[in-house]
Amino acid sequence: MTDSVETFQLLVEAAEVYESQFVPALFAEWAPHLVEAAGVAPGQAVLDVACGTGVVARTAADRMGGQGRVVGLDLNEGMLTVAGRLRPDIEWRQGDAADLPFGPGSFDVVLCQSAMMFFPDRAGSLREMARVATPGGTVAVQVWDQLEAQEGYGAMYGAFARHLGPEADQLESSYWALGDLDLVGSLFEAAGLELTTTLTRVGTVRFPSASAAVATEIEATPLARRVDQDTYHRILAAGTEAMRPFVVAGGRVELPLKGHIVTATRPA
Ligand SMILES: C[S@@+](CC[C@H](N)C(=O)[O-])C[C@H]1O[C@@H](n2cnc3c(N)ncnc32)[C@H](O)[C@@H]1O
Repeated sequence: MTDSVETFQLLVEAAEVYESQFVPALFAEWAPHLVEAAGVAPGQAVLDVACGTGVVARTAADRMGGQGRVVGLDLNEGMLTVAGRLRPDIEWRQGDAADLPFGPGSFDVVLCQSAMMFFPDRAGSLREMARVATPGGTVAVQVWDQLEAQEGYGAMYGAFARHLGPEADQLESSYWALGDLDLVGSLFEAAGLELTTTLTRVGTVRFPSASAAVATEIEATPLARRVDQDTYHRILAAGTEAMRPFVVAGGRVELPLKGHIVTATRPA
């Protein structure tokens, strides 16, 4: 790992906030679409790379109804602690996406949600995903579209940018770094994978209030450890103001968030 790439590392307290606030607000909506696009079925062996607190692995395991094997792998012990507490029936492994601790052809399906943009070695990680997939197996990756395409988060991060230094900018640019489908396609090709489908959709991020949306964005991401109290309050206020156009009935917030699900086959 290098210092120059945001790798989205959290302590266990932040991982708990991630699971309780961020997963239901944002990530949970995408997991069934990813699992569906990859054709996850009972009896398969499925790997969730950079599983975080495990929402994709849980969704896959539920769809498989207890038949088959599901493994979640993440670099971060805090994330895995929460994952294991929630679902002790799933196999959780600590490891690096760029050096997967599995033999060639171990999994029928390899999934990766909202994480490849954080890998220092994206090409190498995708090659690893291809290596551990069975011949004819599926690799399916979900990424966010570019910031220019993100109405809601564009407004939030635009407000943050006026108060934050380059470290936060780096977190922001990592999120959207794989929004260009040509770039993603070339990474898949370089990994020896054959693209099968690309699905672009707009999800809805839901928070109980504008300040909750912004507070979660800070507290459940590596931003939390990078800002002092003064800056925290300033970006909370600025971000909350920027959320005004997205406030709906009851003061709740609904933010559009656009992403891509790319699936590919490892040639037999
Ligand atoms: C935004 S979270 C997404 C987690 C999960 N896939 C989800 O949908 O909730 C990004 C995850 O990538 C993990 N990660 C970052 N770099 C990694 C690497 N090189 N190998 C494995 N996991 C990594 C982080 O620890 C974090 O859990």
